[in-house]
Amino acid sequence: MDVNEVERLIKISRERPLNPDTFIPWQLGPESGDIFLPDFLTSLYGLEIYNTLSPFQQSELARHEMVQVIASYAWGECLFCLFMTRHILTLPFDSVERRFLLRELIEEFKHQEMFGQAIAKLGGQPVPQSRLHKFLGTFSNKYLPADYLFMGSVSVELVTDVYGTHARKSEHIYPLLKKMFDLHTIEEARHIIFTKSLLKIYAARAGYIKRTLYSYVILGNILFVRTMYVKKEIYQRIGLENPDKVFKLAAKNFKQNFSENCLAGIVEFVNSWGGFNRATRWAWRWILDVKV
Ligand SMILES: [Fe+2]
Ligand SMILES: [Fe+2]
Repeated sequence: MDVNEVERLIKISRERPLNPDTFIPWQLGPESGDIFLPDFLTSLYGLEIYNTLSPFQQSELARHEMVQVIASYAWGECLFCLFMTRHILTLPFDSVERRFLLRELIEEFKHQEMFGQAIAKLGGQPVPQSRLHKFLGTFSNKYLPADYLFMGSVSVELVTDVYGTHARKSEHIYPLLKKMFDLHTIEEARHIIFTKSLLKIYAARAGYIKRTLYSYVILGNILFVRTMYVKKEIYQRIGLENPDKVFKLAAKNFKQNFSENCLAGIVEFVNSWGGFNRATRWAWRWILDVKV
């Protein structure tokens, strides 16, 4: 790990902290014409059914799905904070890794509070995680070794960062969401730099089997995130008939949209340490629909 680089990240975090309470215009409610999520990131975009929705239904779909995205981040970050808290207990007091992780914990707790407030401003009612998500999330958090958890976290951070960037760069995005993603992108950029530099050491030491396992952990994390956004309940809420059928179409459609728009960064990362091989490539193609 590049110690000087991590010291620089700690310094920025200390000297230029961003406070969500003042950085985000919480007083602003959404105005008519504000959008909540770019259309191409909604689960129904590209399907025939999307064109049959009224503008109000399209906007409601985007609002509910944005709430789902934010709630999923908050949940994932909370789980990661649990892990980091346990992990820093194993590190010496003066280690640069421990000091950085403390800054990351502080920032991640602020993010979770910010996400909760944003959901309230959106009038959101997040659909809870499925039992399988809950089980996999808590089980892997508790029992996987640290290197696997860092691999998982950087993959989720890279994917969610792309999502936030698409949202904050969209024209007419609800200004509160824009500022929320601005803040998140700035702070997550530091987490990503740190984790990548930490993982370089793990990946350099890893042989074929370990690289294969790392690749599968990342793939699993991405699949985990992707399946948290698309929810049958949302189609019921916006008044669609036959939500079961819509859900099936949407899941397939979103897999493709997600692969086209969100996975370039993570594919590049996995490629950089040789995570694509005979044992993994087929799964990435089949499960995540990426061309590797
Ligand atoms: Fe965060
Ligand atoms: Fe983070």
